[in-house]
Amino acid sequence: MKTEAIRFYQTGNKEVLKFEEIDLPEPKENEVLISQKFIGVNFIDTYYRSGLYPVPLPSGLGTEASGVIEKVGSQVAHLKVGDRVTYAQGPLGAYAKKRVIAADKVILLPDDISLEAAAALTLKGLTVSYLFEDVHQLQSGDTILFHAAAGGVGLIACQWARHLGVKLIGTVSSETKARLIQEMGAYAAINYTREKISQRVLDITHHKKVSVVYDSVGADTWEESLNSLSPKGLMVSFGNTTGPVRNVDLGILAQKGGLFVTRPMLAHYVDTPEKLQARGSQLFKLVKEGVITPHIDSIFKLKDAALAHQELLERSRVGAILLEV
Ligand SMILES: NC(=O)c1ccc[n+]([C@@H]2O[C@H](COP(=O)([O-])OP(=O)(O)OC[C@H]3O[C@@H](n4cnc5c(N)ncnc54)[C@H](OP(=O)(O)O)[C@@H]3O)[C@@H](O)[C@H]2O)c1
Repeated sequence: MKTEAIRFYQTGNKEVLKFEEIDLPEPKENEVLISQKFIGVNFIDTYYRSGLYPVPLPSGLGTEASGVIEKVGSQVAHLKVGDRVTYAQGPLGAYAKKRVIAADKVILLPDDISLEAAAALTLKGLTVSYLFEDVHQLQSGDTILFHAAAGGVGLIACQWARHLGVKLIGTVSSETKARLIQEMGAYAAINYTREKISQRVLDITHHKKVSVVYDSVGADTWEESLNSLSPKGLMVSFGNTTGPVRNVDLGILAQKGGLFVTRPMLAHYVDTPEKLQARGSQLFKLVKEGVITPHIDSIFKLKDAALAHQELLERSRVGAILLEV
């Protein structure tokens, strides 16, 4: 069987992405073949492409897509041909027209969730759910700092925080984004291209600071994130948008108040099929109830994945970017 997919043979900028025909195996007994409709573009895809996260080459790319089941392996009981599904974990290779993947990585979609919404929400929504409930159980009344709050993960975080009664202070790079995140549920916005983050956090919290910082920006915001935490606060470093945080002297955690730091990934917390299904059900229930609304910035053709990567790196964009098959 053949399909078309994005592959890369060397790491580098967006030009290394090639659209080509590839061989596709028949699904094994515990696998399914998905005819994909939409693919979620995530910042982590750029880390694999650039070589920040090394993978054996040549490689496929992407971990998130939605589509319709075309074939099921002989041992697959919970999915059937024609089912509408989504997934956000597993080996790289989601940037493809068709995909064979382990059935236990796949979430069956409720009727009222579109394939488009699923590709915009699955990875990013599961991420917010484990960050807000597993890494640290947020409580109503908590005040948190969340960087890149107008991004794909960020806009879901704003809405989820409002639902929990959590005061989310979001950082963004423009006034347009500042207005948007407040409409989407943020308690306050900081334009970190113009304002000093920790000073604004002091002003907004009346000098109390925040109990948790969610920092996916990485190198550029590390120090200001620590400066924004109250004593014994938790720094959740979950991304590297401006490069990874390196060479940390642990003494800085003592100097700034006995702080805690964690560097989690989705796979650490959504690590069984049961947890995946439970987290997926919770996410799509919140969408059905109107708590979470997907925000799609733009949709590119699969063959134009390089253009989608270019847009992902441009800071004018808000919400999610998709590829369409
Ligand atoms: N650990 C995990 O489990 C996990 C899971 C999912 C995602 N993540 C991480 O979460 C982050 C968000 O992912 P996403 O896919 O939703 O991306 P995104 O937030 O939609 O895009 C990244 C955002 O980072 C900000 N940014 C700051 N400096 C930047 C720079 N130099 N270049 C480009 N953007 C810059 C931009 O917002 P402003 O312009 O407003 O600053 C941009 O919108 C990524 O770091 C990703 O790796 C981690």
